[in-house]
Amino acid sequence: MIKPHGSDELNPLFVYDTKRREALVEEAQTLPSLLLNSAAAANAVMLGGGYFNPLTGYMNLADSLSVAEKMHTVDGLFFPIPIVNLTDDSSVKAGSRIALRDPNVKGNPVLAVMTVDAVEPVSDAQIAFMSEKIFRTLDPKHPGVETFASLGRTMVSGPIEVLNFSYFQTDFPDTFRTAVEIRNEIAEHGWETVVAFQTRNPMHRAHEELCRMAMEQLHADGILIHMLLGKLKPGDIPADVRDASIRKMVEIYFPPNTVMVTGYGFDMLYAGPREAVLHAVFRQNCGCTHLIVGRDHAGVGDYYGGFDAQTIFDEEVPAGALELQIFKADHTAYSKKLNKVVMMCDVPDHTNEDFVLLSGTKVREMLGKGIAPPPEFSRPEVAKILSDYYQTLDN
Ligand code: ADX
Repeated sequence: MIKPHGSDELNPLFVYDTKRREALVEEAQTLPSLLLNSAAAANAVMLGGGYFNPLTGYMNLADSLSVAEKMHTVDGLFFPIPIVNLTDDSSVKAGSRIALRDPNVKGNPVLAVMTVDAVEPVSDAQIAFMSEKIFRTLDPKHPGVETFASLGRTMVSGPIEVLNFSYFQTDFPDTFRTAVEIRNEIAEHGWETVVAFQTRNPMHRAHEELCRMAMEQLHADGILIHMLLGKLKPGDIPADVRDASIRKMVEIYFPPNTVMVTGYGFDMLYAGPREAVLHAVFRQNCGCTHLIVGRDHAGVGDYYGGFDAQTIFDEEVPAGALELQIFKADHTAYSKKLNKVVMMCDVPDHTNEDFVLLSGTKVREMLGKGIAPPPEFSRPEVAKILSDYYQTLDN
């Protein structure tokens, strides 16, 4: 099986030993608390599940700046995005142990225990430097830039031990999985070539066919549909609705035992190319050999070129940095001539009139008005689940 990123074995930071975990829960009651922001909490959940292997905790400022600038830590570990705990709480002391509290669960229970290595002030210029490198823009209207600027100006770094998986395990018991669990499931299936499909949307015909094309062309044993379960920008479809529609599509339209429908607990960054590389790192940690990267992967608005998230792998990811490979998908659309979904590069004889091209915005508008998207765009069973959801918005 493909090795995790940066180590021979996966080292999840969740404390699996029950006695140790209970001891930490008890110790946490005596420790000073830090209430995390949602981004830092999501980082803890990802670290806990082994997704961010081989990191042992939150990065310090030197590593964060280095990762932002050149996708490597000071010691030379390849990593595409700084994994940070930024705060405005001035009470944290270097050298102390602290209880990290969860902002997303009622009562703010302890999510992790941290040994604080460093507490470092971060200047506005350093935040801007990192933002520009990560998001390729400083536009405060970019949702990722806006969030990053709001997280705080003190960086608290050091190793963590994770005690639970926040609301993800309780709210999505059938879908949330750690990287450890996904690796184990892949091994149980006996799959060798496994394609990951990243998504933050319900899956329409284009998404479904992308998975099928990748499976066929790579002769894959299975596909991991891996949906983001954390926070999105307003207007995006909530995780439970996406989950239901994806499960329905897989149940009806894919052969049994070829697809794992799963999710991970992370907030969307909207960092386009850099986020695509992060997606690749953590799918390798899950045991996948390939990741589908299509048009405007992890993008938002017009901030990235349609295929920037593919070219970054050729231009900026050094050879050998990752074992996982990407499956580059061209723009897909429904061909009226061939009556099927195609990659546009595969049908040079087509003109614009031969395609059904529906934008997400247009579909949202249709659903908002109670109009079901056409079958060329969406399976009727998927459209029904989405229409039902949109109707609840009116009431
Ligand atoms: S993402 O932000 O999670 O990447 P989304 O769920 O919309 O967004 O897309 C999932 C994957 O499908 C991404 O790799 C994206 O590039 C790809 N994709 C979505 N629609 C198309 C399309 N029409 N053509 C090609 N690739 C697409």
